[in-house]
Amino acid sequence: MARKPRSVYRCAECGAEHPKWAGRCDACGTWNTLVEEAVGRSGARAVRPFDPATDRPPVRLSDVAAQGTARWHTGLDEFDFVLGGGIVPGSVSLVGGEPGIGKSTLLLQCAARLEAGNIRTLYVSGEESVDQLRLRADRLMEDAGPVHVIPEVRLEAITAQAAMLQAQVIVVDSIQTTYSDELEGAPGNVGQLRECAARLMRFAKESGAAVVLVGHVTRSGIIAGPKTLEHVVDTVLYFEGESSGDFRVLRAVKNRFGSVDEVGIFEMTVGGLRPVANPSGAFLAGRTAETAGSAVTALMEGTRPVLVEIQALAARSGYGTPQRVATGLDQRRLAVLLAVLERRAGLSFHDLDVFVNVTGGVRLVEPASDLAVAAALCSSVRDRPVPADALFLGEVGLGGEVRPIAGVERRLAEADRLGFRTAFVSSRSRVSGPVSTVPVAHVADLASRLAA
Ligand code: TYD
Ligand code: MG
Repeated sequence: MARKPRSVYRCAECGAEHPKWAGRCDACGTWNTLVEEAVGRSGARAVRPFDPATDRPPVRLSDVAAQGTARWHTGLDEFDFVLGGGIVPGSVSLVGGEPGIGKSTLLLQCAARLEAGNIRTLYVSGEESVDQLRLRADRLMEDAGPVHVIPEVRLEAITAQAAMLQAQVIVVDSIQTTYSDELEGAPGNVGQLRECAARLMRFAKESGAAVVLVGHVTRSGIIAGPKTLEHVVDTVLYFEGESSGDFRVLRAVKNRFGSVDEVGIFEMTVGGLRPVANPSGAFLAGRTAETAGSAVTALMEGTRPVLVEIQALAARSGYGTPQRVATGLDQRRLAVLLAVLERRAGLSFHDLDVFVNVTGGVRLVEPASDLAVAAALCSSVRDRPVPADALFLGEVGLGGEVRPIAGVERRLAEADRLGFRTAFVSSRSRVSGPVSTVPVAHVADLASRLAA
């Protein structure tokens, strides 16, 4: 009697193995991430025995010929920069982002530029018809006419078409709509997602073509999101921003061929996405320095400093619990800063609604922007503008102490370039340069200096 094939369930998030199916992973606690893995059934990989004639022995790294990675430049500077200098042949990249953020626009522009540079590019659209693509292409500043397009969702057809066309770059928009008949489950489920990506990876390595996958991420959903693919692909880029605003940030979170955490900044225009060469200038363009509640800080976006404006509004609240609304900033970070200002600087927010906004659709992730948020809040609650040429750099601790941050010099150099003359920094920061510094040791110091 044939042995019954065994199957196990593996968590797509943490990789833990489960003998039985369950809704929630025991190891990491995430819901709906278990995927069936058949062992010894069709679909499982056949094991090839070791053969000394064909299996190559290990080599010393020093014996491996040094070869600079060839790259295909799209000429869309910020995109090439984030990738580390262009698209690497044989690589698989994932471009994730919320629906409507501009992923298809970005990649159609890249495809157009690659074709213009004689790199044969196939744009596979599983979401839009060729007519829709044509309409989009008509709006772009690039001429997307020479790009090869095909509306296709079947994986086998995609790889066959790409091989026939001898495409050098293949854009698959999106990985969620791609499916293989050989696998169970609807398109977009975790099993399909991972296996389709893995097969495209194999195709890329074997053919030398570069594959760019588009993946949708929802604000809340990890399941729909391409998080599960991050370890399969070579490069992961996220495209972020408020889809209602003009600015978009392309961020590398994983890059086997370059540095991570580099960002590219784009502006959505009527002609598609345009790289922004001077992000600080663009983010500060609409600033009204005489208004209370506005403070400027410098973020490190990758290796580049970028100046952004933080706006705060504290207004008398109506009934019930006052509201705290943070856009571009963690809600809990705002709560912490408000509590610190109440207890350590004697400012009262208990009967005020508080709104904090970061302009340009940028997200604050570094604690280095704490001091600027505190300054904006302080300025708003007192209805007194901060000095127009002042910059705020510092982390705020629970005791109200202002801590020094990394990369102060580079941030100040950018501030100097944009005409900022004063910088409020931690009293423990050692800096010299053209921008004069105001040392602050504690948030109470900040409050009294801003009141003076
Ligand atoms: P899209 O690339 O379809 O987003 P995604 O693929 O991430 O879902 O972008 C859609 C938005 O971009 C849509 O709201 C219209 C806007 N857009 C412009 O503003 N200018 C343009 O030139 C194009 C092509 C799109
Ligand atoms: Mg799209």
